[in-house]
Amino acid sequence: MASSCSVVVTAIVVVVLGMAAAASAQLSATFYDSSCPRALSIIRSAVNAAVARETRMGASLLRLHFHDCFVQGCDASVLLADAPNFSGEQGAFPNANSLRGLDVVDTIKSQLEASCRQTVSCADILAVAARDSVVALGGPSYPVLLGRRDGTTAVQMQANIDLPAPTTNLGNLVTTFARRGFNSSEMVVLSGGHTIGAAQCTNFRSRIYGETNIDSAFAAALRGSCPQAGGNANLGALDSTPNAFDNAFFRDLMLGRGLLHSDQQLYAGDGTGTDAFVRNYASNSAQFFSDFAAAMAKVGGLGVLTGSQGQVRLNCSRVN
Ligand code: HEM
Repeated sequence: MASSCSVVVTAIVVVVLGMAAAASAQLSATFYDSSCPRALSIIRSAVNAAVARETRMGASLLRLHFHDCFVQGCDASVLLADAPNFSGEQGAFPNANSLRGLDVVDTIKSQLEASCRQTVSCADILAVAARDSVVALGGPSYPVLLGRRDGTTAVQMQANIDLPAPTTNLGNLVTTFARRGFNSSEMVVLSGGHTIGAAQCTNFRSRIYGETNIDSAFAAALRGSCPQAGGNANLGALDSTPNAFDNAFFRDLMLGRGLLHSDQQLYAGDGTGTDAFVRNYASNSAQFFSDFAAAMAKVGGLGVLTGSQGQVRLNCSRVN
């Protein structure tokens, strides 16, 4: 009995692994080469134009892809507006009043629709736009496999569960990423995404007024623009060079200058926890770039729909 049970379990595991392999095998770097040959250049030009208009948009587009993939896989569910049968992810705590770049995605989508109707998925747009944003701000390039299909539903509560909050401690950061198959060194390198962009006062107020593991001059300067009451949306830079994709984020952590509580959790300064990874990336930009690129490629493969699964949305904010 025990052995027939294990045969069944083994068979199920083989089938499940096979399905996962088949799904990812259908992604390919050349997916649009004949169906929409200009797809990649259309996305790249639009991203470059958006970043030229506002540098921070590169950061916003990177975050959008991360928030898409960590919730229900890279299926563009994050782009779905509330519908009669579901409340969308945009209303979830990590996204509400905070997600940016939806208009840029819409612009890209309409340019693609004009060039090749209903061919390029919104999920692929997010993946490519994230990579092009990183490159536009001086970060590493990496191949983005294509052929993701768009999902047809979203679950707001799932976004609250799957996306980390800025109040998260190290243990829970590790767990949140482990649930998606990332180890703690990958969690640290992906957090290096905070080398660009900004956060709102409401997300770092308790850190600059109440925490002790913070550089005092850094905290004092931030208090000027983030008062104890009001100014919730006032911005603070996530690292000392928010317009450049570089490894300053890690050096800042070593100086107690992490903006978010969750960021500073990555570096305790006593050699415990993930200190060694932070030190490594702070002193080795090439290693940060190559590990970040590899981890982003892995993010882009999370829970993808391929083949005849899902659909290619005509409008990224609603199901066809
Ligand atoms: C480790 C857990 C993470 C937490 C707790 C976290 C949390 C946050 C928070 C609270 C903000 C500011 C939002 C606002 O104030 O409106 C933010 C911004 C940002 N996050 Fe994360 N994040 C995490 C991981 C990541 C990852 C893995 C990436 C990408 C690889 C990323 C990319 C970004 C970017 C680029 C911004 C700036 C966006 C902008 O300026 O529009 N984050 N994050």
